[in-house]
Amino acid sequence: MSGRALPERPLTWQFCPRCERELAASSPESQCPDCGGLLEVRHQPPSPRDRGETLKTLFASRRGRPDPLDASGVWRYRELVLPDARPEQVVTYPEGNTPLLWREAVSRFAGVEALLLKHEGMNPTGSFKDRGMTVGITQARRIGARAVACASTGNTSASLAAYASSAGLPALVFVPAGQVALGKLAQTLAYGARTLLVRGDFDACFALVREAAEKLNVYLLNSINPFRIEGQKTIAFETLEQLLFESPDWIALPAGNLGNTSAFGKALKEASELGLIARMPRLACIQAEGANPFALGFREGFARPHRVKADTVATAIKIGDPASLERAITAVRLTNGVVTDVTDGEILEAKAVVDASGAGCEPASAASVAGVKKLAAQGVIRQGERVVAVLTGHILKDPGLLLHYHQESDPPPPRANRPIEIEASLSAVEEVLGNTGQ
Ligand code: F0G
Repeated sequence: MSGRALPERPLTWQFCPRCERELAASSPESQCPDCGGLLEVRHQPPSPRDRGETLKTLFASRRGRPDPLDASGVWRYRELVLPDARPEQVVTYPEGNTPLLWREAVSRFAGVEALLLKHEGMNPTGSFKDRGMTVGITQARRIGARAVACASTGNTSASLAAYASSAGLPALVFVPAGQVALGKLAQTLAYGARTLLVRGDFDACFALVREAAEKLNVYLLNSINPFRIEGQKTIAFETLEQLLFESPDWIALPAGNLGNTSAFGKALKEASELGLIARMPRLACIQAEGANPFALGFREGFARPHRVKADTVATAIKIGDPASLERAITAVRLTNGVVTDVTDGEILEAKAVVDASGAGCEPASAASVAGVKKLAAQGVIRQGERVVAVLTGHILKDPGLLLHYHQESDPPPPRANRPIEIEASLSAVEEVLGNTGQ
């Protein structure tokens, strides 16, 4: 690997795990220029005496401080995210600081008493994407990008649009026409991104944006961008910190393009190497049955990559050819993880339970709870094990599907909460309440 390593090791650099080529942090390449592999960001680790308890104390000391970087649930962990970012370069809301919830109804439904919900829908634009985007847009600014772009099923585009506007950068997004949830499309337009509705699916949008970004010299901010992964790692760091660094047995998350699975794998590896945790949680990656190339691969020991024509109500994870497959396989192997899939019916039922518990989430997020229920029923998740399910997006992201479920579907699904239209009179109210026995 001589000549392929950087002459001098800076604080942060980029690395291709496939061919071991190193690139400067400032390189705008979206993949390894030699072998086409996806890049990862590497940092000089804190010195041995600044790891473990010292690092935990440092992170804890920043909580509640007014400094914008300390106030962010991403930048509070900056030694492990982007240690050399200068405060004036950072584009932050702040983001992160999301709650870890326990809901009796969800635990009962899933059959797992110790089930906590890490609610990433509580981020500024309503999804976990903000954690990666604060770092991605900061990096765009650091390298002097003139514009940024992504393909998206809706959440990445909403987040990109918001952060790009905050940074004063033009944003270009490619989304599959007619397949993006209402809240996400509305956000993307309102935050001011130039929005292209592509006649094709997400996989077509992604191929197109890769080509276009290169031709137009625009900085690509899909989750293949390794700086986004650095930000998304903090979902794991923050969850572990909320659990006082006592690892849960499992972390369940919905899996689509597999950037987030990769981020969790990298975060857990680093948390372990830096002495933040003594035990590795197992990842449970959950796909929709109609968009399950990763689950198909897992069943065969990842002997070959799978590609499917994706179809699911969970439009966020309607992806047939995931870009981060290789590094997600690494994450599953590292954590002795599992990959499974759930039907749209199971997703919708889990969502109805999560919603009615007061937590609320978008359809793809409910896949994690549906997956936990399935794995617990199969005995893969065992009695008494502690599980964190990541809710990746907010309940208001997909109001169209919600209203259809509760108001329009015929016959109504068992958990539908039908609204009742009445005349504006007390007797009409009494009649309804009398009828429903309330
Ligand atoms: N959950 C939600 C709500 C998402 O929006 C996504 C991905 C995922 C889970 C899956 O994460 O792709 O890293 O495996 N949404 C992307 C987007 C594809 O464009 O917003 P992943």
